[in-house]
Amino acid sequence: MNEFATSPADLARRFPADFEWGFAASAYQVEGAAAQDGRGASIWDTFSRVPGATINGDTGDVACDHYHRFREDVRLIAELGASAYRFSVSWPRVIPAGTGAVNRRGVDFYDRLVDELLAAGIKPLLNLFHWDLPQALQDRGGFANREIRGWFADYTALVAGALGDRVTDWMTFNEPAVFAFLAHADGIHAPGARDWPTAMRVADNELHAHASAVAAIRAAVPNARIGVAIDVNQVAPATDSDDDVQAAAQWSSARDAWFLDPLFGRGYPSVGLEAHRAAGHLEGVELSTPPSGDLDYLGLNYYRRDTVRARSDRPFDWEVGAASGVELTDMGWHVAPDGLRDVLVDLNREYSAKEIVVSENGAAYRDVVESDGRVHDGDRTAYLARHVSAVGDALAAGVPVTGYMAWSLLDNFEWSFGYSKRFGLVHVDFSTQRRTVKDSGKWYQNLASNGR
Ligand code: FCB
Repeated sequence: MNEFATSPADLARRFPADFEWGFAASAYQVEGAAAQDGRGASIWDTFSRVPGATINGDTGDVACDHYHRFREDVRLIAELGASAYRFSVSWPRVIPAGTGAVNRRGVDFYDRLVDELLAAGIKPLLNLFHWDLPQALQDRGGFANREIRGWFADYTALVAGALGDRVTDWMTFNEPAVFAFLAHADGIHAPGARDWPTAMRVADNELHAHASAVAAIRAAVPNARIGVAIDVNQVAPATDSDDDVQAAAQWSSARDAWFLDPLFGRGYPSVGLEAHRAAGHLEGVELSTPPSGDLDYLGLNYYRRDTVRARSDRPFDWEVGAASGVELTDMGWHVAPDGLRDVLVDLNREYSAKEIVVSENGAAYRDVVESDGRVHDGDRTAYLARHVSAVGDALAAGVPVTGYMAWSLLDNFEWSFGYSKRFGLVHVDFSTQRRTVKDSGKWYQNLASNGR
């Protein structure tokens, strides 16, 4: 049996009074209204229509209908005691063709959302890119085209100009590694490319685009706090054999440090560089040393422990996934709260970020609304309690963690898994859009309000 304290009051006592308890979400996963009020097409509109790309052919056309229900959703965030909400802006909603003409009705939506959040006492944490690139830009090469650095800066300048008088907390990218590698090498996210050199160009351009966006935000919002959300799950070798240990070190360098090292001013990591080169990923790719990230804080998205097993001594000839016989979520992800503590401690030792915000953490389980009208998701409450406790351990060990954003407020469109995976602390009935706070949501409310 697992030992953990679920008492939210006991847990809350381990955090300072100004610790931010929040929720995280993203535009394409919740907004819906995909063809409304002048929104342009995004690469996820296109990709989700490719047969077999998503479970049941699900799309984000309607999602949680948050575009129309944002007032109700902001009320929920407030009722659940959160002091912060991390959301993303849909680039094709505000600039339908990606560059050029601005869609005022799109900008107005975020204007109203920000006002609503502030009126409810919730701090908006605005993320500029959560994977829903305008299709018109993909048609021009997307993130593999170097021009994206300027396109992204212009888009950022528009959003910063429109909302920077009220939004102080900014993020440039969500999980640049997932966008580069899953979407351009593995082909399982939009735009669905399967070409490593393309993925490496995308990664390089993301790092440069990050730097141009930071400059654009700083120019428009003098008091801005700027971060980026990097996904670092714990990486562990499957055994202590030399091949497995080397594979784990190469994977973590080629994937996680590939972004972290440049963001903290060190250029690309040599172990990762060697691994990518040996695997042929850099053929025909010209990498230029990316500028440092100029970060006020680092966002950490953490979900699981990934175990790496070498099939041979060749880089990328690996199996990466959950070890066998371990506790799993409905995603098949290895539940490892101690990994969150360790990742926080390691990141702090390695990079000394000024602050770290846990910008996503959560779990999918097979929730049902039971006959009493409630969702008894004890597994999710346990997951959250153990991970929050791990954050408390990291804090006690001296890591400057200042916030925790649960993924997610609502069950939503989980990318290629469509609506089949539920991550919300609030249940959504997708046929009626009815929201039901799960037991985990009530638990989180206690945690967040005790923490005040
Ligand atoms: C993260 C994504 C987020 C959501 C969670 C479950 O990788 O940033 O959009 O899909 O996983």
